[in-house]
Amino acid sequence: MRNNSLGLDTQKTKELSIELNNLLANFQVFYQNLRGIHWNIRGKRFFDLHAKFEELYNDAQVKVDMIAERILTLGGTPFHTFHDYNENAQVPVGKDVSLDEEAIKLIVDSITVLLKIEREILDQSDEANDEGTNSMMSDFITEQEKTVWMMKAWLDEEI
Ligand SMILES: [Fe+2]
Repeated sequence: MRNNSLGLDTQKTKELSIELNNLLANFQVFYQNLRGIHWNIRGKRFFDLHAKFEELYNDAQVKVDMIAERILTLGGTPFHTFHDYNENAQVPVGKDVSLDEEAIKLIVDSITVLLKIEREILDQSDEANDEGTNSMMSDFITEQEKTVWMMKAWLDEEI
């Protein structure tokens, strides 16, 4: 077992940066979903949803940057091309979504995928003793779970 300059296992750190790249790809698709619904949303709730989706994509953009810079901190290279994002993302792609319920459901479905990946990374970072990635994933999970609660409340559905 060899440790890097962070004091973390070199191999485990490399594996973590690969998983974080997968999360990055998924986040970028989520981000584009949010831009799409921000632009295309229609109906009587336009003004509040248009603003809410902007708030969410700004938040996603901050998280994207945090993930990419974590990958670099761990010695990896963050994906930055649409090709890599398309190849690696499992988040559903929302195209021309203009109905409010459909838009909110797209957010929930996207976050459900992100949460699953983040929990897998959390297990892995815990195992690698990587507290930096651990705490980042914990924060993301807590915030996104709260967003899911709010979206589900809006839909008037059970979590
Ligand atoms: Fe805008």
